[in-house]
Amino acid sequence: MRKENMKIKKAVFPAAGLGTRLLPITKSIPKEMLTLVDKPLIQYGIEECISAKINDIIIVTGRGKNSIEDYFDRSIEHEIILKEKGKEHLLKSVEDLSNAANLSYTRQKEALGLGHAILTAQNLVGNEPFSVVLSDDIIDSRIPVMKQMMGVYKNLGHSILAVQRVQDKDIPKYGIIDAEEIQKGVLKVKDLVEKPEIREAPSNLAIIGRYILMPDIFEFLRKTKPGKGGEIQLTDAIKSLLSTQPVYALEFEGTRYDGGNKLELLKAQIIFGLKNPGLRTGLIDFINNLELV
Ligand code: G1P
Repeated sequence: MRKENMKIKKAVFPAAGLGTRLLPITKSIPKEMLTLVDKPLIQYGIEECISAKINDIIIVTGRGKNSIEDYFDRSIEHEIILKEKGKEHLLKSVEDLSNAANLSYTRQKEALGLGHAILTAQNLVGNEPFSVVLSDDIIDSRIPVMKQMMGVYKNLGHSILAVQRVQDKDIPKYGIIDAEEIQKGVLKVKDLVEKPEIREAPSNLAIIGRYILMPDIFEFLRKTKPGKGGEIQLTDAIKSLLSTQPVYALEFEGTRYDGGNKLELLKAQIIFGLKNPGLRTGLIDFINNLELV
């Protein structure tokens, strides 16, 4: 079978970043473990993959990230106490997830950039297409974004990037693509640039943290020199990949919140809180009667 038609079974979650924008909390809590309503951010990303039938989850961790592994591991002490109290359901959501997903971990020894983090996962990915999820890109959508992307992958094969239009002022925060629409919402990528100045940007179509990548990316990642911010950039490697094979982009349906930004994280808390049946009424009531002291 041609590589570009192979089933996607694996997802790489880079989680070695320092979370600088959320300091000081990220001194001791990995940003992937920050809570959105009642679950850590990374759990939402993993659930999104499971919904797209991607069950092999590879987490690229680093120093200070042990709590991610602990969270998905069993906690015998809690299990014993909860069993005595008849409250086993409190661990159910994470237990179900750990059973559905096949989790593995690899460690990035130095934070040399997103591209380098992906390269660290090469041995676990092997020679097959795979997906990448940046769990601080929180996406609220009717159909999970990875599932939307798998639909495009089934039709077109090859690498697919999730993109969204951003305001001009935000262009320098993202990888930006130059592309041509070939179907409604589906674009053929012509060029990419990591965090350009507004005047140099080819468009306002920003890459959001969901990717489907052909394994050939590893060869280009190995050759990629440090780029923007002195880091090995995934965007630069995808640009090189583009000279040898097609790359597509999907303007996905959904609202994205930047979990690395305090205001955006707060907005996401409210939206996800309102969507939680057990919290909705109480939260609306609270908002309607807000009084600041
Ligand atoms: C990374 C990528 C960038 C992408 C962004 C999406 O940047 O390098 O191309 O647009 O994620 O969130 P970071 O936010 O890690 O600086």
